[in-house]
Amino acid sequence: MTKPSAQTKPALSQDELKTLVGQAALRFVVPGQIIGVGSGSTVNKFIDALASMKDQIKGVVSASQASTARLRAIGIPVFDANEVEELAVYIDGADEIDQRGNMIKGGGAALTREKIVSAQSRQFVCIVDESKLVQTLGRFPVPVEVIPMAVQRLVRQFAAIGGRAQVRIKAGSTGQEPLVTDNGQVLLDVSGLQISDPLAFEAQVSQWPGVVTVGVFAFQKAQVCLLATADGVKTLTF
Ligand code: 5RP
Repeated sequence: MTKPSAQTKPALSQDELKTLVGQAALRFVVPGQIIGVGSGSTVNKFIDALASMKDQIKGVVSASQASTARLRAIGIPVFDANEVEELAVYIDGADEIDQRGNMIKGGGAALTREKIVSAQSRQFVCIVDESKLVQTLGRFPVPVEVIPMAVQRLVRQFAAIGGRAQVRIKAGSTGQEPLVTDNGQVLLDVSGLQISDPLAFEAQVSQWPGVVTVGVFAFQKAQVCLLATADGVKTLTF
């Protein structure tokens, strides 16, 4: 029987990678300021880490009701986006990120508020594990928040460009109950797309009547990506 090499490192689970990158993001937190915070399981790790710095920041603007509840539970003040002009930094996860910092976001249904808060921020720091880094966006179905009366027409519009759009169903619902976002709208998840020009795709789909927000972030791409790998957290800048 061969003995395991002394140099073999135990593989980190995805959850452990998320914890690592959540902690690594603390170095982008500017003391004395209000920061933007996104949502999702990786951001939850960041929020947990932020507890150690909570007395050093003024507070946050949050991109989802779930993040707001988690932040308030640890005693961090949450400001309304309208109370704040510009944020120094926005820290959020992504479902996919490419080598230029373009992202797909919205797996956690918070894409509209995420785009609003990131638009208010000077720098977008994306925190992901290495499974999210792709050559071309589109392996992950693109979330699109839409007005309910436009659903069927938008399904046909996506079909015309090669996409299969499905209404996202509420987790745990027994029937086919659509998930309703924090903004009272519904989501389409669009699979089958290869997004070789993210800026053009975002510009095109954003103009379709009934689209509230498309989950491609190219106009507001990341400036920094903290990428959790088996060898530690790497910093990519764009
Ligand atoms: C929520 C998002 C999240 O950032 C994205 O879904 C990644 O989530 P996770 O960190 O749980 O993998 O865009 O709308």
